[in-house]
Amino acid sequence: MAKTKTVWFCKSCGNESPKWMGRCPACGEWNTMVEETVATGKASPSSRLVQVPGASRKPMHLSEIDSSQESRISLGNGEMDRILGGGLVEGSLVLIGGEPGIGKSTLSLQIPLHCPHLKTLYVTGEESARQVKLRAARIGGDDSDCLIYSETLMENILEQAREIMPDLMVVDSVQTMFSQNVESSPGSITQIKETAALLLRFAKETGVPVILIGHITKEGSIAGPKILEHIVDVVLQFEGENRGTYRLLRSIKNRFGSTSELAVFEMTGKGLREVSNPSEMLIPMHEEGLSGVAVSAMLDGTRPFLIEVQSLVSSAAYGTPQRSATGFDVRRLNMLLAVLEKRAGFKLSVKDVFLNMAGGLRVNDPACDLAVICAVLSSNFDYAIPSDTCFAGEVGLSGEIRPVAQTDRRVIEAARLGFKKIYVSSYSSLDDVKPEGIEVVKVADVPALCRSLFRG
Ligand code: TYD
Ligand code: MG
Repeated sequence: MAKTKTVWFCKSCGNESPKWMGRCPACGEWNTMVEETVATGKASPSSRLVQVPGASRKPMHLSEIDSSQESRISLGNGEMDRILGGGLVEGSLVLIGGEPGIGKSTLSLQIPLHCPHLKTLYVTGEESARQVKLRAARIGGDDSDCLIYSETLMENILEQAREIMPDLMVVDSVQTMFSQNVESSPGSITQIKETAALLLRFAKETGVPVILIGHITKEGSIAGPKILEHIVDVVLQFEGENRGTYRLLRSIKNRFGSTSELAVFEMTGKGLREVSNPSEMLIPMHEEGLSGVAVSAMLDGTRPFLIEVQSLVSSAAYGTPQRSATGFDVRRLNMLLAVLEKRAGFKLSVKDVFLNMAGGLRVNDPACDLAVICAVLSSNFDYAIPSDTCFAGEVGLSGEIRPVAQTDRRVIEAARLGFKKIYVSSYSSLDDVKPEGIEVVKVADVPALCRSLFRG
Protein backbone atom coordinates (compact mmCIF):
# COMPACT_ATOMS: atom_id res chain seq x y z
CA MET A 1 0.00 0.00 0.00
CA ALA A 2 1.22 3.48 -0.83
CA LYS A 3 2.50 5.66 1.97
CA THR A 4 0.13 8.39 3.01
CA LYS A 5 0.40 11.71 4.79
CA THR A 6 -2.03 14.22 6.18
CA VAL A 7 -2.35 17.64 4.60
CA TRP A 8 -4.75 20.52 5.02
CA PHE A 9 -6.69 22.01 2.14
CA CYS A 10 -8.61 25.25 1.96
CA LYS A 11 -12.24 24.51 1.04
CA SER A 12 -12.52 27.81 -0.69
CA CYS A 13 -9.51 27.97 -2.98
CA GLY A 14 -7.88 24.54 -2.69
CA ASN A 15 -4.62 25.85 -1.27
CA GLU A 16 -2.55 23.10 0.32
CA SER A 17 -0.79 23.46 3.64
CA PRO A 18 1.15 21.00 5.84
CA LYS A 19 -0.60 22.18 9.00
CA TRP A 20 -3.93 23.65 10.09
CA MET A 21 -4.30 27.39 9.92
CA GLY A 22 -7.18 29.57 11.04
CA ARG A 23 -6.92 31.70 7.96
CA CYS A 24 -5.97 30.54 4.49
CA PRO A 25 -2.84 32.45 3.43
CA ALA A 26 -3.84 32.18 -0.26
CA CYS A 27 -7.39 33.48 -0.31
CA GLY A 28 -7.66 35.06 3.15
CA GLU A 29 -10.81 33.11 4.11
CA TRP A 30 -11.24 32.15 7.75
CA ASN A 31 -11.95 28.66 9.02
CA THR A 32 -11.82 26.92 5.66
CA MET A 33 -9.03 24.38 6.23
CA VAL A 34 -10.02 20.70 6.09
CA GLU A 35 -7.83 17.70 6.76
CA GLU A 36 -7.24 15.08 4.05
CA THR A 37 -5.03 12.07 3.53
CA VAL A 38 -2.99 11.95 0.35
CA ALA A 39 -0.65 9.30 -0.99
CA THR A 40 3.01 10.19 -1.17
CA GLY A 41 5.58 8.71 -3.50
CA LYS A 42 4.60 8.43 -7.14
CA ALA A 43 3.11 11.55 -8.59
CA SER A 44 -0.60 11.41 -9.32
CA PRO A 45 -1.68 11.95 -12.92
CA SER A 46 -3.00 15.37 -12.04
CA SER A 47 0.55 16.57 -11.56
CA ARG A 48 1.65 15.24 -14.93
CA LEU A 49 1.83 17.59 -17.85
CA VAL A 50 -1.24 18.00 -20.00
CA GLN A 51 -0.27 18.38 -23.62
CA VAL A 52 -2.64 20.59 -25.61
CA PRO A 53 -3.29 19.12 -29.07
CA GLY A 54 -1.28 20.91 -31.71
CA ALA A 55 0.99 22.47 -29.10
CA SER A 56 4.63 22.83 -29.94
CA ARG A 57 7.50 21.72 -27.76
CA LYS A 58 9.56 24.82 -28.52
CA PRO A 59 8.84 28.54 -28.34
CA MET A 60 7.45 30.11 -31.51
CA HIS A 61 6.81 33.58 -32.88
CA LEU A 62 3.19 34.67 -32.79
CA SER A 63 3.23 34.82 -36.59
CA GLU A 64 4.20 31.15 -36.82
CA ILE A 65 1.26 29.99 -34.76
CA ASP A 66 -1.72 28.63 -36.63
CA SER A 67 -4.54 31.02 -35.86
CA SER A 68 -7.33 29.32 -37.76
CA GLN A 69 -10.58 29.26 -35.84
CA GLU A 70 -10.90 26.47 -33.30
CA SER A 71 -13.66 24.12 -34.38
CA ARG A 72 -16.87 24.57 -32.50
CA ILE A 73 -19.77 22.20 -32.04
CA SER A 74 -23.24 23.67 -32.07
CA LEU A 75 -25.35 22.39 -29.20
CA GLY A 76 -28.60 23.05 -31.00
CA ASN A 77 -29.57 25.45 -28.26
CA GLY A 78 -29.26 29.15 -29.09
CA GLU A 79 -28.73 30.28 -25.51
CA MET A 80 -26.06 27.67 -24.78
CA ASP A 81 -24.20 28.36 -28.02
CA ARG A 82 -24.22 32.08 -27.35
CA ILE A 83 -22.99 31.82 -23.77
CA LEU A 84 -20.16 29.55 -24.88
CA GLY A 85 -19.10 32.16 -27.42
CA GLY A 86 -20.53 30.43 -30.50
CA GLY A 87 -20.60 26.74 -29.63
CA LEU A 88 -18.59 24.21 -27.69
CA VAL A 89 -14.89 24.20 -28.54
CA GLU A 90 -13.39 20.78 -29.24
CA GLY A 91 -11.31 19.46 -26.38
CA SER A 92 -12.63 21.98 -23.90
CA LEU A 93 -13.63 21.25 -20.33
CA VAL A 94 -16.77 23.13 -19.28
CA LEU A 95 -17.87 23.27 -15.67
CA ILE A 96 -21.53 23.93 -14.92
CA GLY A 97 -21.96 24.87 -11.27
CA GLY A 98 -25.06 25.60 -9.24
CA GLU A 99 -27.07 24.77 -6.18
CA PRO A 100 -28.73 21.35 -5.97
CA GLY A 101 -32.08 21.19 -7.75
CA ILE A 102 -31.51 24.18 -9.97
CA GLY A 103 -31.48 22.20 -13.22
CA LYS A 104 -27.87 21.24 -14.01
CA SER A 105 -28.69 17.60 -14.76
CA THR A 106 -31.74 18.62 -16.76
CA LEU A 107 -29.73 20.98 -18.94
CA SER A 108 -26.87 18.58 -19.49
CA LEU A 109 -29.22 15.77 -20.48
CA GLN A 110 -31.32 18.04 -22.64
CA ILE A 111 -28.34 19.09 -24.75
CA PRO A 112 -27.59 15.60 -26.14
CA LEU A 113 -31.27 14.69 -26.41
CA HIS A 114 -31.92 17.68 -28.61
CA CYS A 115 -28.78 17.08 -30.68
CA PRO A 116 -29.35 13.72 -32.37
CA HIS A 117 -26.27 14.18 -34.56
CA LEU A 118 -23.96 14.20 -31.52
CA LYS A 119 -22.81 10.89 -30.14
CA THR A 120 -22.81 11.55 -26.41
CA LEU A 121 -21.58 9.65 -23.41
CA TYR A 122 -23.62 10.75 -20.40
CA VAL A 123 -21.98 9.56 -17.19
CA THR A 124 -24.08 9.80 -14.09
CA GLY A 125 -22.81 9.18 -10.60
CA GLU A 126 -25.90 10.52 -8.90
CA GLU A 127 -28.79 8.82 -10.60
CA SER A 128 -29.43 5.32 -11.85
CA ALA A 129 -29.79 4.76 -15.58
CA ARG A 130 -33.51 4.21 -14.94
CA GLN A 131 -33.86 7.61 -13.31
CA VAL A 132 -32.09 9.20 -16.26
CA LYS A 133 -34.48 7.38 -18.58
CA LEU A 134 -37.48 8.79 -16.69
CA ARG A 135 -36.04 12.27 -16.93
CA ALA A 136 -35.33 11.81 -20.62
CA ALA A 137 -38.94 10.77 -21.13
CA ARG A 138 -40.04 14.12 -19.69
CA ILE A 139 -37.65 16.08 -21.84
CA GLY A 140 -38.36 14.10 -25.01
CA GLY A 141 -35.99 13.19 -27.83
CA ASP A 142 -35.57 9.42 -27.82
CA ASP A 143 -34.00 9.23 -31.26
CA SER A 144 -30.77 10.73 -29.93
CA ASP A 145 -27.41 8.97 -30.01
CA CYS A 146 -26.87 9.23 -26.28
CA LEU A 147 -25.27 6.50 -24.18
CA ILE A 148 -26.07 6.50 -20.48
CA TYR A 149 -23.40 5.16 -18.15
CA SER A 150 -24.01 4.94 -14.44
CA GLU A 151 -20.51 4.79 -12.94
CA THR A 152 -18.35 6.67 -10.48
CA LEU A 153 -14.89 5.18 -10.91
CA MET A 154 -12.88 7.49 -13.15
CA GLU A 155 -10.62 4.74 -14.51
CA ASN A 156 -13.64 2.80 -15.85
CA ILE A 157 -15.23 5.94 -17.23
CA LEU A 158 -12.13 6.97 -19.13
CA GLU A 159 -11.61 3.46 -20.47
CA GLN A 160 -15.16 3.45 -21.86
CA ALA A 161 -14.80 6.97 -23.18
CA ARG A 162 -11.59 6.12 -25.06
CA GLU A 163 -13.31 3.09 -26.56
CA ILE A 164 -16.51 4.88 -27.57
CA MET A 165 -14.85 8.18 -28.57
CA PRO A 166 -18.03 10.22 -28.30
CA ASP A 167 -18.55 13.69 -29.79
CA LEU A 168 -19.47 14.97 -26.35
CA MET A 169 -19.10 13.69 -22.83
CA VAL A 170 -21.12 14.78 -19.80
CA VAL A 171 -20.03 13.94 -16.24
CA ASP A 172 -22.63 14.43 -13.51
CA SER A 173 -21.23 15.30 -10.99
CA VAL A 174 -17.61 15.94 -10.04
CA GLN A 175 -18.45 15.38 -6.36
CA THR A 176 -19.51 11.78 -6.90
CA MET A 177 -16.55 10.66 -9.02
CA PHE A 178 -13.42 9.07 -7.64
CA SER A 179 -10.11 7.82 -8.88
CA GLN A 180 -8.05 4.92 -7.55
CA ASN A 181 -4.95 7.11 -7.70
CA VAL A 182 -6.11 9.06 -4.70
CA GLU A 183 -6.87 7.58 -1.32
CA SER A 184 -9.62 9.81 -0.11
CA SER A 185 -13.36 9.66 -0.32
CA PRO A 186 -15.40 10.99 -3.27
CA GLY A 187 -16.21 14.67 -2.86
CA SER A 188 -12.96 15.45 -1.02
CA ILE A 189 -10.76 18.17 -2.41
CA THR A 190 -8.04 15.81 -3.61
CA GLN A 191 -10.59 13.62 -5.41
CA ILE A 192 -12.29 16.59 -7.03
CA LYS A 193 -8.98 17.96 -8.27
CA GLU A 194 -7.90 14.55 -9.52
CA THR A 195 -11.19 13.93 -11.34
CA ALA A 196 -10.97 17.31 -13.04
CA ALA A 197 -7.34 16.78 -13.96
CA LEU A 198 -8.08 13.35 -15.47
CA LEU A 199 -10.96 14.75 -17.49
CA LEU A 200 -8.89 17.69 -18.64
CA ARG A 201 -6.19 15.33 -19.80
CA PHE A 202 -8.75 13.21 -21.61
CA ALA A 203 -10.34 16.23 -23.28
CA LYS A 204 -7.03 17.70 -24.42
CA GLU A 205 -5.63 14.41 -25.68
CA THR A 206 -8.68 13.26 -27.58
CA GLY A 207 -10.36 16.55 -28.49
CA VAL A 208 -13.65 15.37 -26.97
CA PRO A 209 -15.39 18.26 -25.21
CA VAL A 210 -16.41 17.43 -21.64
CA ILE A 211 -19.21 19.05 -19.67
CA LEU A 212 -18.58 18.61 -15.95
CA ILE A 213 -21.21 19.33 -13.34
CA GLY A 214 -20.44 20.57 -9.85
CA HIS A 215 -22.61 21.46 -6.88
CA ILE A 216 -22.25 24.49 -4.73
CA THR A 217 -24.24 25.28 -1.65
CA LYS A 218 -25.83 28.60 -0.77
CA GLU A 219 -22.70 29.72 1.08
CA GLY A 220 -20.52 28.37 -1.72
CA SER A 221 -18.57 26.67 1.05
CA ILE A 222 -18.62 23.03 0.03
CA ALA A 223 -15.55 21.76 -1.74
CA GLY A 224 -16.16 22.01 -5.43
CA PRO A 225 -16.38 24.38 -8.32
CA LYS A 226 -14.36 27.15 -6.64
CA ILE A 227 -11.31 24.91 -6.58
CA LEU A 228 -11.81 23.90 -10.20
CA GLU A 229 -12.19 27.33 -11.69
CA HIS A 230 -8.56 27.62 -12.68
CA ILE A 231 -8.34 24.08 -14.08
CA VAL A 232 -11.27 24.15 -16.48
CA ASP A 233 -11.66 26.23 -19.67
CA VAL A 234 -15.17 27.51 -19.10
CA VAL A 235 -17.18 28.02 -15.93
CA LEU A 236 -20.92 28.52 -16.22
CA GLN A 237 -22.97 29.16 -13.15
CA PHE A 238 -26.66 28.53 -12.72
CA GLU A 239 -28.55 31.11 -10.71
CA GLY A 240 -32.15 31.67 -9.89
CA GLU A 241 -34.66 31.52 -7.14
CA ASN A 242 -35.59 27.91 -6.55
CA ARG A 243 -39.25 28.77 -6.22
CA GLY A 244 -39.26 30.81 -9.42
CA THR A 245 -39.21 29.11 -12.78
CA TYR A 246 -36.55 31.27 -14.41
CA ARG A 247 -32.95 30.14 -14.44
CA LEU A 248 -30.02 32.29 -15.38
CA LEU A 249 -26.82 30.75 -16.65
CA ARG A 250 -23.93 33.12 -16.24
CA SER A 251 -20.50 32.79 -17.77
CA ILE A 252 -17.86 33.33 -15.08
CA LYS A 253 -14.83 32.25 -17.03
CA ASN A 254 -14.44 31.51 -20.72
CA ARG A 255 -11.14 30.93 -22.45
CA PHE A 256 -12.92 30.98 -25.82
CA GLY A 257 -15.38 33.84 -25.49
CA SER A 258 -16.75 36.68 -23.47
CA THR A 259 -17.55 36.29 -19.78
CA SER A 260 -20.20 38.92 -19.83
CA GLU A 261 -22.83 36.66 -21.33
CA LEU A 262 -26.01 35.55 -19.71
CA ALA A 263 -28.42 32.87 -20.87
CA VAL A 264 -31.99 32.71 -19.65
CA PHE A 265 -34.06 29.56 -19.36
CA GLU A 266 -37.44 28.71 -17.98
CA MET A 267 -38.00 25.42 -16.14
CA THR A 268 -41.11 23.83 -17.56
CA GLY A 269 -42.70 20.42 -17.21
CA LYS A 270 -40.67 19.32 -20.24
CA GLY A 271 -37.24 20.53 -19.24
CA LEU A 272 -35.63 23.93 -19.72
CA ARG A 273 -37.02 26.26 -22.34
CA GLU A 274 -34.82 28.93 -23.90
CA VAL A 275 -36.01 32.44 -23.19
CA SER A 276 -34.69 34.40 -26.11
CA ASN A 277 -36.35 37.66 -25.13
CA PRO A 278 -35.67 38.03 -21.40
CA SER A 279 -37.23 41.48 -21.15
CA GLU A 280 -40.65 39.94 -21.53
CA MET A 281 -40.22 37.80 -18.45
CA LEU A 282 -38.69 40.55 -16.37
CA ILE A 283 -41.50 43.01 -16.88
CA PRO A 284 -44.55 41.23 -15.52
CA MET A 285 -47.71 42.52 -17.08
CA HIS A 286 -50.01 44.24 -14.62
CA GLU A 287 -52.63 46.90 -14.54
CA GLU A 288 -51.79 50.46 -15.23
CA GLY A 289 -51.55 52.76 -12.25
CA LEU A 290 -49.60 50.88 -9.58
CA SER A 291 -47.31 53.08 -7.55
CA GLY A 292 -43.82 51.99 -6.52
CA VAL A 293 -42.94 50.43 -9.86
CA ALA A 294 -40.34 51.67 -12.34
CA VAL A 295 -38.75 49.93 -15.30
CA SER A 296 -35.01 50.06 -15.78
CA ALA A 297 -33.25 49.59 -19.11
CA MET A 298 -30.27 47.65 -17.83
CA LEU A 299 -27.46 45.78 -19.44
CA ASP A 300 -26.33 42.39 -18.25
CA GLY A 301 -23.19 41.49 -20.04
CA THR A 302 -23.68 42.57 -23.59
CA ARG A 303 -27.40 42.18 -23.55
CA PRO A 304 -29.91 44.93 -22.93
CA PHE A 305 -32.77 43.95 -20.63
CA LEU A 306 -35.75 45.74 -19.26
CA ILE A 307 -36.41 44.89 -15.67
CA GLU A 308 -39.09 45.98 -13.28
CA VAL A 309 -37.96 47.57 -10.02
CA GLN A 310 -40.52 47.46 -7.24
CA SER A 311 -40.43 49.47 -4.07
CA LEU A 312 -42.56 49.93 -0.99
CA VAL A 313 -42.08 52.91 1.28
CA SER A 314 -44.05 53.06 4.50
CA SER A 315 -43.80 54.83 7.84
CA ALA A 316 -41.40 53.08 10.18
CA ALA A 317 -43.34 51.35 12.93
CA TYR A 318 -40.37 51.13 15.29
CA GLY A 319 -37.44 53.38 16.01
CA THR A 320 -34.93 52.28 13.40
CA PRO A 321 -36.37 52.22 9.88
CA GLN A 322 -35.89 49.03 7.90
CA ARG A 323 -34.06 48.88 4.62
CA SER A 324 -34.29 45.72 2.64
CA ALA A 325 -33.36 44.93 -0.94
CA THR A 326 -33.77 41.75 -2.99
CA GLY A 327 -31.51 41.52 -6.01
CA PHE A 328 -29.92 44.89 -5.34
CA ASP A 329 -27.05 45.96 -3.07
CA VAL A 330 -28.59 47.30 0.14
CA ARG A 331 -25.63 49.63 0.72
CA ARG A 332 -26.23 51.19 -2.66
CA LEU A 333 -29.91 51.58 -1.77
CA ASN A 334 -28.90 53.38 1.44
CA MET A 335 -26.64 55.66 -0.56
CA LEU A 336 -29.42 56.50 -3.01
CA LEU A 337 -31.81 57.25 -0.13
CA ALA A 338 -29.19 59.54 1.42
CA VAL A 339 -28.84 61.36 -1.91
CA LEU A 340 -32.63 61.80 -2.11
CA GLU A 341 -32.67 63.16 1.43
CA LYS A 342 -29.70 65.48 1.17
CA ARG A 343 -29.90 66.66 -2.43
CA ALA A 344 -33.62 66.70 -3.06
CA GLY A 345 -35.03 67.17 0.42
CA PHE A 346 -37.14 64.00 0.70
CA LYS A 347 -37.50 62.89 4.32
CA LEU A 348 -36.96 59.18 3.92
CA SER A 349 -34.99 58.58 7.11
CA VAL A 350 -38.20 57.91 9.04
CA LYS A 351 -39.55 55.48 6.45
CA ASP A 352 -39.16 51.76 5.94
CA VAL A 353 -37.95 51.10 2.40
CA PHE A 354 -38.24 47.72 0.66
CA LEU A 355 -36.87 47.12 -2.80
CA ASN A 356 -37.27 44.16 -5.12
CA MET A 357 -35.95 43.34 -8.57
CA ALA A 358 -38.49 41.35 -10.56
CA GLY A 359 -37.68 37.87 -11.82
CA GLY A 360 -35.17 36.95 -9.11
CA LEU A 361 -32.36 38.68 -10.97
CA ARG A 362 -29.36 40.03 -9.10
CA VAL A 363 -28.49 43.41 -10.53
CA ASN A 364 -25.22 45.25 -10.41
CA ASP A 365 -25.56 47.61 -13.33
CA PRO A 366 -25.32 51.21 -12.03
CA ALA A 367 -27.86 52.22 -14.67
CA CYS A 368 -30.56 50.82 -12.39
CA ASP A 369 -30.04 53.69 -9.90
CA LEU A 370 -32.44 55.94 -11.72
CA ALA A 371 -35.26 53.38 -11.76
CA VAL A 372 -34.59 52.62 -8.08
CA ILE A 373 -35.03 56.22 -6.96
CA CYS A 374 -38.07 56.61 -9.21
CA ALA A 375 -39.68 53.48 -7.74
CA VAL A 376 -38.95 54.73 -4.21
CA LEU A 377 -40.36 58.20 -4.90
CA SER A 378 -43.34 56.75 -6.72
CA SER A 379 -44.22 54.63 -3.70
CA ASN A 380 -43.52 57.49 -1.32
CA PHE A 381 -45.91 59.85 -3.11
CA ASP A 382 -48.27 57.05 -4.11
CA TYR A 383 -47.99 58.35 -7.64
CA ALA A 384 -47.89 55.79 -10.45
CA ILE A 385 -45.27 56.17 -13.15
CA PRO A 386 -46.83 55.56 -16.60
CA SER A 387 -46.11 51.96 -17.60
CA ASP A 388 -44.66 53.00 -20.95
CA THR A 389 -41.82 54.93 -19.29
CA CYS A 390 -38.40 53.53 -18.44
CA PHE A 391 -35.09 54.74 -17.06
CA ALA A 392 -31.34 54.31 -17.54
CA GLY A 393 -28.90 56.38 -15.53
CA GLU A 394 -26.46 56.31 -12.66
CA VAL A 395 -27.01 58.61 -9.69
CA GLY A 396 -23.94 60.34 -8.26
CA LEU A 397 -23.38 61.45 -4.68
CA SER A 398 -24.19 65.05 -5.44
CA GLY A 399 -27.50 64.08 -7.00
CA GLU A 400 -26.30 64.38 -10.57
CA ILE A 401 -27.47 61.86 -13.13
CA ARG A 402 -24.54 60.35 -14.91
CA PRO A 403 -24.45 58.71 -18.31
CA VAL A 404 -24.12 54.93 -18.51
CA ALA A 405 -22.42 52.62 -20.97
CA GLN A 406 -24.20 51.85 -24.23
CA THR A 407 -27.18 54.13 -23.66
CA ASP A 408 -28.04 53.80 -27.36
CA ARG A 409 -28.57 50.05 -27.10
CA ARG A 410 -30.79 50.49 -24.08
CA VAL A 411 -32.89 53.07 -25.90
CA ILE A 412 -33.24 50.80 -28.92
CA GLU A 413 -34.29 47.84 -26.77
CA ALA A 414 -36.84 49.99 -24.92
CA ALA A 415 -38.25 51.26 -28.22
CA ARG A 416 -38.42 47.72 -29.56
CA LEU A 417 -40.50 46.65 -26.56
CA GLY A 418 -42.95 49.46 -27.11
CA PHE A 419 -41.85 51.95 -24.46
CA LYS A 420 -42.80 55.52 -25.30
CA LYS A 421 -40.45 57.45 -23.03
CA ILE A 422 -36.99 56.85 -21.59
CA TYR A 423 -35.18 59.04 -19.06
CA VAL A 424 -31.41 59.23 -19.48
CA SER A 425 -28.62 61.52 -18.31
CA SER A 426 -28.25 64.92 -20.01
CA TYR A 427 -24.65 63.99 -20.63
CA SER A 428 -25.44 60.88 -22.70
CA SER A 429 -24.50 61.22 -26.31
CA LEU A 430 -27.15 59.73 -28.54
CA ASP A 431 -26.28 61.54 -31.75
CA ASP A 432 -25.96 58.55 -34.02
CA VAL A 433 -29.18 56.83 -32.97
CA LYS A 434 -32.55 58.06 -34.00
CA PRO A 435 -34.90 55.62 -32.30
CA GLU A 436 -38.42 55.75 -33.61
CA GLY A 437 -41.51 55.94 -31.47
CA ILE A 438 -39.69 56.73 -28.24
CA GLU A 439 -39.11 60.08 -26.60
CA VAL A 440 -35.72 60.45 -24.95
CA VAL A 441 -35.93 62.76 -21.93
CA LYS A 442 -32.58 64.03 -20.72
CA VAL A 443 -32.28 64.98 -17.08
CA ALA A 444 -29.24 66.45 -15.34
CA ASP A 445 -29.97 65.84 -11.67
CA VAL A 446 -32.51 64.43 -9.22
CA PRO A 447 -34.51 67.67 -8.75
CA ALA A 448 -34.81 68.00 -12.55
CA LEU A 449 -35.98 64.40 -12.75
CA CYS A 450 -38.64 64.98 -10.10
CA ARG A 451 -39.86 68.12 -11.82
CA SER A 452 -40.16 66.30 -15.11
CA LEU A 453 -41.64 63.08 -13.79
CA PHE A 454 -43.84 64.18 -10.93
CA ARG A 455 -44.44 67.75 -12.14
CA GLY A 456 -43.36 69.43 -8.88
P1 TYD B 1 -32.07 18.82 -11.74
O1 TYD B 1 -31.62 18.97 -13.15
O2 TYD B 1 -32.17 17.45 -11.20
O3 TYD B 1 -31.19 19.70 -10.77
P2 TYD B 1 -29.64 19.54 -10.39
O4 TYD B 1 -29.04 18.53 -11.27
O5 TYD B 1 -29.10 20.92 -10.57
O6 TYD B 1 -29.61 19.14 -8.95
O7 TYD B 1 -33.47 19.57 -11.71
C1 TYD B 1 -34.20 19.56 -10.61
C2 TYD B 1 -35.55 20.21 -10.67
O8 TYD B 1 -36.08 20.48 -11.94
C3 TYD B 1 -36.47 19.26 -9.99
O9 TYD B 1 -36.93 19.90 -8.82
C4 TYD B 1 -37.55 18.98 -10.95
C5 TYD B 1 -37.44 20.06 -11.95
N1 TYD B 1 -37.80 19.63 -13.32
C6 TYD B 1 -38.88 20.21 -13.95
O10 TYD B 1 -39.55 21.09 -13.40
N2 TYD B 1 -39.18 19.84 -15.23
C7 TYD B 1 -38.47 18.88 -15.90
O11 TYD B 1 -38.79 18.56 -17.06
C8 TYD B 1 -37.37 18.28 -15.22
C9 TYD B 1 -36.55 17.22 -15.90
C10 TYD B 1 -37.07 18.68 -13.94
MG1 MG C 1 -28.34 16.64 -10.66
